[in-house]
Amino acid sequence: MARHTFARTALAALSAATLFALGACSSEPPSSGDDTGSGDGGDELISVGFSQVGAESGWRSANTMSIKDALTEENGFELSFSDAQQKQENQISAIRNYIAQGVDVIAFSPVVETGWDPVLEEAKAAGIPVVLTDRAVETTIEDAYVSFIGSDFVEEGRRSGEWAVEQYDGEGYKVVELQGTTGSAPAIDRQQGFADAIAGSDLEIIDSQTGDFTRDGGKKVMEGFLTAHDDIDLVFAHNDDMGLGAVEAIEAAGMKPGEDIKIITIDGVKDGMQALADGKFNYIVECNPLLGPDLAEIIKATVAGEPVEERIVTHDEAFDQEAAKEALPDRQY
Ligand code: AHR
Repeated sequence: MARHTFARTALAALSAATLFALGACSSEPPSSGDDTGSGDGGDELISVGFSQVGAESGWRSANTMSIKDALTEENGFELSFSDAQQKQENQISAIRNYIAQGVDVIAFSPVVETGWDPVLEEAKAAGIPVVLTDRAVETTIEDAYVSFIGSDFVEEGRRSGEWAVEQYDGEGYKVVELQGTTGSAPAIDRQQGFADAIAGSDLEIIDSQTGDFTRDGGKKVMEGFLTAHDDIDLVFAHNDDMGLGAVEAIEAAGMKPGEDIKIITIDGVKDGMQALADGKFNYIVECNPLLGPDLAEIIKATVAGEPVEERIVTHDEAFDQEAAKEALPDRQY
């Protein structure tokens, strides 16, 4: 089954507002757009059901806040929000509830990639447009969703691996990997991007396990790695929280994170950036969680029958220790 994802395009850094003018992917017929309740003069609010993955990380908290701040009544929305606690069955039942309620639009960030076809088919049969945020799904359903907004996770893994090769190739570094949630798009894609980037170098991944994107999970897995291996040089953590858990485990083992064992992570939340500025992390590839404003624009355009771009890739930066010191004072999340 082919993954229903789309190639990165030159549109990556453009705002969603610009993209709507360029895209031609919606199957919705054009409408006047006057009665969408979009806050532009219409009376009715747009009802949105949003199923969030959970509250597993600092990134997720920032993402939830961004969505809630954007989908407000003042901005023309009536938001029903649910937290799935990292369980697919909770997301499926939340989406079924939104279908039963007859909301105008369903949006969700899928905890894992597979297993969505039945519920996506039900939403389609009910005529409710679906927008994916943050994570991709694998689906065989045609036109299962109108748009997918989020980062390019393969690229994030690749940039992490490229930096590791630039810094450490030739040193014979032994690498351990703290993977995100098993079966999730960011775990699959970041692992692939990193592995591709270090192929051909003398960096070697000696162990790789899931820490489920949590600080506690990262700490426990790192403790196990430190017991099993006495030659770890570098940790590649799929998010800041697991990297911060690894810092705790490394310090408890009497070593200096960032020096005795180097750490590369993905996200760029404040706690991660602080660890980088403090010399406990070595590099962070950003994953931008502030998806709310673009999601709001996508929903408004969808309800108005305007075309929307089917894949919108958010712009991500990368930081070394000096760049983190500069960026920290202005960091929003
Ligand atoms: O899907 C995005 C990932 O999910 C973030 O990198 C991680 O922190 C979160 O849990």
